[in-house]
Amino acid sequence: MPSLRIENIAKHFGGLKAVDGFSMEVPPGEITGLIGPNGAGKSTVVNMIAGVLSLTSGDIKLGDRSISTDRTEQVARAGIARTFQSIRLLPETTVLDNIVIGFHRHEKAGPLAALLGLPSATRELRELREKAWDLLERFHMQEYAFLAAGNLAYGHQRRVEIMRAMASDPAILMLDEPVAGMNDVESDELAEIFKQLAEQGLGLLLIEHNVGFVTRLCRQIYVLDAGRLLASGPPEQIVNDPRVIEAYIGGASAA
Ligand SMILES: Nc1ncnc2c1ncn2[C@@H]1O[C@H](COP(=O)(O)OP(=O)(O)OP(=O)(O)O)[C@@H](O)[C@H]1O
Ligand SMILES: [Mg+2]
Repeated sequence: MPSLRIENIAKHFGGLKAVDGFSMEVPPGEITGLIGPNGAGKSTVVNMIAGVLSLTSGDIKLGDRSISTDRTEQVARAGIARTFQSIRLLPETTVLDNIVIGFHRHEKAGPLAALLGLPSATRELRELREKAWDLLERFHMQEYAFLAAGNLAYGHQRRVEIMRAMASDPAILMLDEPVAGMNDVESDELAEIFKQLAEQGLGLLLIEHNVGFVTRLCRQIYVLDAGRLLASGPPEQIVNDPRVIEAYIGGASAA
């Protein structure tokens, strides 16, 4: 499994330096945290990695290969999957078929052709639904398979998003605030799933405002502030770093 390496990346929107020289590594088999106050540039980093935003400067490597000029499709095919800060499911489509859509990285006819019922694709659709069912079992979500995704509780919709991302069988999974809006039970369940995925070799990048959640799960945490690295290190070091307390944890608990 390859490591994802971010090397001195910058993204400027006109005069605004949303990300301004930031480096980090997301190794396989562990969960790496990215935290920072609102507007620090976290989602911008994810969007640069995912190929949604071009880089102003810097490089992004998956293993030995630079992916910094790849488009979203190529990044996905290279093995990097992501979930969005705001949920993006097809609300009227079943949970099962929302996951099927995530398989498009590997399939020939494509799940959309299959879902539209093109004859050449119906056998493929059956196979994809079987694979989606395996994912539902892993995430303990079988009972929701045939419900419209939009009718699920928020925590379960987030889980469907993660399953859809996992359907592409990625090496790296980027999660932009996956437990936002979840209660403690829901976020504990997700924490267990993230740990299992890391144990199976996946490299996870976890963006979160919930510092307790991040420190519990991550081996290494990077703190972004105004587009720059404020601190990085293991959780116990980060939560005791006066700069971090001042810029982020202090500000967040005061707020
Ligand atoms: N497409 C864009 N065009 C212009 N400015 C942008 C764009 N995307 C983000 N920004 C700006 O870049 C900065 C960083 O935004 P970003 O969304 O990356 O922050 P964030 O750390 O994810 O914040 P949050 O915790 O609120 O999700 C903000 O000032 C934001 O307004
Ligand atoms: Mg964000």
